[in-house]
Amino acid sequence: RKAEPLRIMISGAPASGKGTQCELITKKYGLVHIAAGDLLRAEITAGSENGKQAKEYMDKGQLVPDEIVVTMVKERLNGPDSQEKGWLLDGYPRSSSQSIALKEFGFQPDLFILLEVPEEILVERVVGRRLDPVTGKIYHLKYSPPETEEIAARLAQRFDDTDEKVKLRLHTHHQNVEAVLSMYKDITVKVKGSGSKQEVFGQIDGALTQLLEQKQGKLGTV
Ligand code: AP5
Repeated sequence: RKAEPLRIMISGAPASGKGTQCELITKKYGLVHIAAGDLLRAEITAGSENGKQAKEYMDKGQLVPDEIVVTMVKERLNGPDSQEKGWLLDGYPRSSSQSIALKEFGFQPDLFILLEVPEEILVERVVGRRLDPVTGKIYHLKYSPPETEEIAARLAQRFDDTDEKVKLRLHTHHQNVEAVLSMYKDITVKVKGSGSKQEVFGQIDGALTQLLEQKQGKLGTV
């Protein structure tokens, strides 16, 4: 019998490195990456009614209402790929109502990862961030520069990655983080997110390896 797949949540302030670490985690552990912010940006690009409404909140650095976000995430979690391979939920839940909704739907994570990064670093990370619209890969002009001239020429900046908007996003984060953390205290692992990408991944990888061993160990005793 196979061990149950991993179910992981990753959280942290804007630009704390969630998306970057998710790339590394999915590469090694094969989980399905479900990022609330990416799903919302896809709705905006598609020009849907939900996307139009979501953009108004995202422009102000506020949480998009539950009516839009909760169902969107639930559908992805229920997808056959997430059920089979396990999931890595990025940037969700961000409020106690979202965590309660998840629990009611029966989604219980094994581990809640919190990336901790000092505020002065966050602003620098936001302002230097660039995205490759072709591959979806995350870059930073200073810390993760593009590999080729061709990629450099097509990099784009997110509409909410300005000095002014990141302050609003940070404020929203501070208002909500404690309520969410209190729901997952028993399974929270705090990770120092200020080191290099690989150093941060080393800490996460250690926690995930341990968790997998526990799951497999449990399986051996039944
Ligand atoms: P979302 O897209 O989730 O944005 P966020 O939380 O602000 O986080 P980011 O995506 O900005 O950062 P990240 O932590 O992924 O960092 P990254 O790896 O890119 O949400 C956007 C908006 O959508 C919200 O404001 C809200 O309106 C709405 N929303 C989303 N979820 C919602 C929800 N659940 N409910 C309601 N509304 C919701 O890294 C940042 C930069 O730093 C990159 O350039 C990267 O290359 C660089 N970097 C990363 N790690 C390192 C490192 N170790 N060293 C040096 N540089 C690094």
